Amino acid sequence: MTMTRDRPRTVVLKKNLARSIRQGHPWIYRDALDVRVIPATGDLVEIHTRDGRPIARGFWDERSPIAVRVLESGGPGYRFADMESLVAERIQAALDRRLERLDLSKTNAFRWLHGEGDLLPGVHVDLYADTAVVRFDGDGARAFYDPFEPRLRLAAKSRLPIRAVLDRSSRKAGVKKDERKVRENGVRFVVDLVHGQKGGLFIDQRENRVRVAGRAQGKSILNLFGYTGGFAVHAAVAGARSTDTVDIARPVIETAWRNFQLNDLPMDRAKFHTLDVFAFLTAAIQRGARWDIVISDPPSFAPRKAAVPDARLAYLRLHKLASAVTVPDGLLCASSCSSHLGKDDFLATIEAGVREAGCRWVFEGLYGAAFDHPVLPAFPEGDYLKFAMGRVR
Ligand SMILES: C[S@@+](CC[C@H](N)C(=O)[O-])C[C@H]1O[C@@H](n2cnc3c(N)ncnc32)[C@H](O)[C@@H]1O
Repeated sequence: MTMTRDRPRTVVLKKNLARSIRQGHPWIYRDALDVRVIPATGDLVEIHTRDGRPIARGFWDERSPIAVRVLESGGPGYRFADMESLVAERIQAALDRRLERLDLSKTNAFRWLHGEGDLLPGVHVDLYADTAVVRFDGDGARAFYDPFEPRLRLAAKSRLPIRAVLDRSSRKAGVKKDERKVRENGVRFVVDLVHGQKGGLFIDQRENRVRVAGRAQGKSILNLFGYTGGFAVHAAVAGARSTDTVDIARPVIETAWRNFQLNDLPMDRAKFHTLDVFAFLTAAIQRGARWDIVISDPPSFAPRKAAVPDARLAYLRLHKLASAVTVPDGLLCASSCSSHLGKDDFLATIEAGVREAGCRWVFEGLYGAAFDHPVLPAFPEGDYLKFAMGRVR
C-alpha cells in the first residue's frame, strides 16, 4: 500500500460532489478536482471541499479518468481510519459474508471481493477451487493494494485452501491454458483461468442458473450465447429433455461439450452449435423449431452510454427472434449485463420484442447478480446484471 507520507496529499473538489461522496459514491473523475501537486499513482489522497474540510480518502490513479477511488468518507469531525486495518478488515468481512452462505463442498467458485460493492474499489477477486484470480482496475489500484497476495492469504487462513494467486490484469499473450475443475451447486465445470472470459466462469449468473434448473425437468432448453454451457449443464443435470447450446466461439463450445461429459450427462440429448445467435435463430424460425425454455445472455450491447440507442434496437431484435422460437406458454429468460441500460428500459425491449413476434410477454420476475456481487445503492454503475423471466403467450 502506497503510504509513504505521514499525511496524504490533499486534492480539492471543484464540483459540488460532497453529498454524493458522503452517500457512498466511490468514484471522482479528474475534471471534478483541483490538484496542485499531482500525487503518484496508488498514493492515498485526502479529498477536501473548497472551504478546506476533509470529507473522504481514496487512492490516486494518474492515468485513469477516474482519478480517485474512494475508500471512506464522513461528515464534519469524522476521524479517518488506519488504512492498513481498514483494508484488512474489509477483505476479511467480505470472505465471512461469502462463507456464511456458501457450502464449499458444493460451490467452490465464487467472487470473494467485488470491488466497489465490497468497499474496496478497483479490485476483484474470484476463487476457483484452490486459486484466487485477482483483477485490478488500473495501475492505481494495483499500486495501492500492493502487496495484495499476503493480505488475501492472511484473511483466508485455514478456511480457504489457496494454492496460487493469479493476477488477471497482467496476464500475457501466449500464456498456455491454466485449467481448474470447480463445482457450482454440485455441478462440475472446467474453467480456463487464463483465457476464459470473466476469470473462467460467469459466476454472477449462479443463482439464475438455479432458477432455470428449477424449471427444466422434462423440458427442451435453448441456451443462447451459451459460453461454456453454464445454463444448459445445470438444466441437463436437473433433468431437461434436451439442450441446445449456441455460441459463436469454437473454444467455448468445446468446453461446453467437456462440461457435459464431466457431469456424466447423456450426450445424445445435448447439441452444440458454433454459430452466430442471430443466424441460428433466423434459421430455426424458418424450419419451425421451438423450445420450452429459451435463455438469452449476450455480451453487453451497450458498453458505453452512447451505445444505448443502438443497444435497445439490438435487444429488441434479439427478443423478437428468441420469443418466436419459444413454445406457446414457454419460458423466455432474457439477460443484459450493461449498467447503462436501465431495468425498465431493458424490460421494455423484451415486451416490445415479444409483441413484434405476435405474442404477449407475461412477466414473472427480474433478478440480478448472485449475492457475492453486492450492489451499493449510491453506485448504480455497479448494478449491471439483469435477468428477466417470463412466459411467452
Ligand atoms: C455473457 S457470455 C454468456 C455467459 C453464459 N450464459 C454463462 O452462463 O456462462 C456471452 C457469450 O456470447 C458469445 N457471443 C458473443 N456474440 C455472439 C454472437 N453474435 N452469437 C453467438 N454467441 C456470441 C460470447 O462468445 C460469450 O461466450
